[in-house]
Amino acid sequence: MCGIIAAAAQRDAAPLLIAGLKALEYRGYDSAGLAVQEDQQLRRVRAKGKVREMEALYLADPFAGSTGIAHTRWATHGVPNEENAHPHMIGRVALVHNGIIENHASLRTRLQAKGYAFTSETDTEVMAALIDAHLSKGMCLREAVLATVQELEGAYAIAVISSDEPGRVVGARRGAPLLVGMGIGEHFLGSDAQALIQVTSKIVYLEEGDVVEISRASAQIYTGDGMPVKRAVHESELSADAVERGEYRHYMQKEIFEQPRAVADTLEARIGSGGVLSNIFGVDGEKLLAKVKGLHIIACGTSYHAGMVAKYWIEDYARLPVSVEVASEYRYREAVVPQGTLLIAISQSGETADTLAALRESRRRGYLGTLAICNVPESSVVREADLKLMTRAGPEIGVASTKAFTTQLAALALLTLHLANEQGMDAARYSELCEQLQRLPRAIDEALQIEPQIVQLAERFVHRRHALFLGRGMHHPVALEGSLKLKEISYIHAEAYPAGELKHGPLALVDEDMPVIAVAPNGPLLDKLKSNLQEVRARGGELIVFADKAAHIDGATAGGSILRIDAGGDFIAPAVFTVPLQLLAYHVAVLRGTDVDQPRNLAKSVTVE
Ligand code: G6P
Repeated sequence: MCGIIAAAAQRDAAPLLIAGLKALEYRGYDSAGLAVQEDQQLRRVRAKGKVREMEALYLADPFAGSTGIAHTRWATHGVPNEENAHPHMIGRVALVHNGIIENHASLRTRLQAKGYAFTSETDTEVMAALIDAHLSKGMCLREAVLATVQELEGAYAIAVISSDEPGRVVGARRGAPLLVGMGIGEHFLGSDAQALIQVTSKIVYLEEGDVVEISRASAQIYTGDGMPVKRAVHESELSADAVERGEYRHYMQKEIFEQPRAVADTLEARIGSGGVLSNIFGVDGEKLLAKVKGLHIIACGTSYHAGMVAKYWIEDYARLPVSVEVASEYRYREAVVPQGTLLIAISQSGETADTLAALRESRRRGYLGTLAICNVPESSVVREADLKLMTRAGPEIGVASTKAFTTQLAALALLTLHLANEQGMDAARYSELCEQLQRLPRAIDEALQIEPQIVQLAERFVHRRHALFLGRGMHHPVALEGSLKLKEISYIHAEAYPAGELKHGPLALVDEDMPVIAVAPNGPLLDKLKSNLQEVRARGGELIVFADKAAHIDGATAGGSILRIDAGGDFIAPAVFTVPLQLLAYHVAVLRGTDVDQPRNLAKSVTVE
């Protein structure tokens, strides 16, 4: 969502903070700002728009100072403008905040009665005033933050400085991540490891409710009730070049092309000649999975589509009932949980507010256990689930998710095979599916070779305003994912339907201005899909068919363009067919000149409800 970086450094803070914000910009990019302490004064610069716009203002009038805080914002309360940008300054306090304070209105009224005047529409400014009010009672900054967070309802990660306490930054977290970077003779705070990797690889992950005070010399953590506490220092495996764009024009393109490696890494040492290794969920996990009678999957966005594919897989192959639901819905309704049900939370970031809240909510619903499928090892979702299966995609920077999706599919395929084997799947079929899964990295690599054809195809979309995606069975979620990619980054309105549903509504939209993209793998539903395509053709719609090389479908049947992909097998086909759809969205967006990696109004990690 928003990004935080703070420094108690031995050098000028502003350049470090700006570099950190650039690494965090994928989290939000409506506005940015920083504040630095200089001779018992706070200096601040803020700007609407990208970090580089704030940087230009700073460079026009730079200031020194080795202690500071900075923020890149994705607006929740108040439009993106300079007044609402962080840091917020009131009295002697400057503060940056990720999350939402739900009781900000009542706090605001109380503080106004005490004489505080507010210049922004944000909930954050209220927090800054509350800290300042506590400082006025003679508390130090740490005490004032501890007292303030006790009065807050909602979610926050904050970093605060005070003009009265040079060289000190206080941070706190509840419901949004905050990390401490342990440098040599300097310390930092950041909302994720990517912001900190430029300065240190030694990271401490704060726990819920923690408050931390950093200076050059020390980083002292306190629990929410003010007791000093020690937290483990982790060596981050992130390398600075993992977050570099390299030769690629956009992170999204780089991440699409990283998929063969990312999927291979996710499968590595988890599947061998004898099948899926039974210990990939740990000893406890193996025992727990042996008792599973059904599964509930919760997730948001692209991760939700991965869950939808898994429903087909697990029901088809393991014959266990599966329900999939977007986390924001699940958390607010009373789902029926039959005995022996496992809850799976799928999340790239592990910090999506709705997914995390749904996982927490599931605790009181009587599940057999919870499993996180996630890309960030120290994330909240991973730490709060009973079992975990990590995707090994590496950092995903492009807001539109690509390699996270295919690695989630790889992880879910491993789970499917494990469960199918447990449920007594035919041995020959099991080993055939295992072989397919092992071929997946190569199959994705081959699918990527279609890029030159996609570049040509993309030209036909540049001036389109709508597009319809069709798939059947486990390729319906693939169609959904293709349409999500197109709308996210090219701003073309796109919808996806199971092809059999076409005649129940969307066919009314089909005319010569409506491109219809169909995913046509080989399989029992191919003939049904061909009939659906005829329905489109008869209405003059422009058809673009992604067909399996093995599928008997020709240009005449397709009645439009046909692009052939080697799906590599029925099981892995959804992952393989996703690739050309990602490339299509990418190249259409490039031709339309949109901001591919940071599309308007969106954010990578949505840590607010
Ligand atoms: C945001 C991102 C999507 C992502 C979704 C879920 O909407 O823009 O790309 O799929 O959040 O994120 P998660 O980290 O939980 O997978």
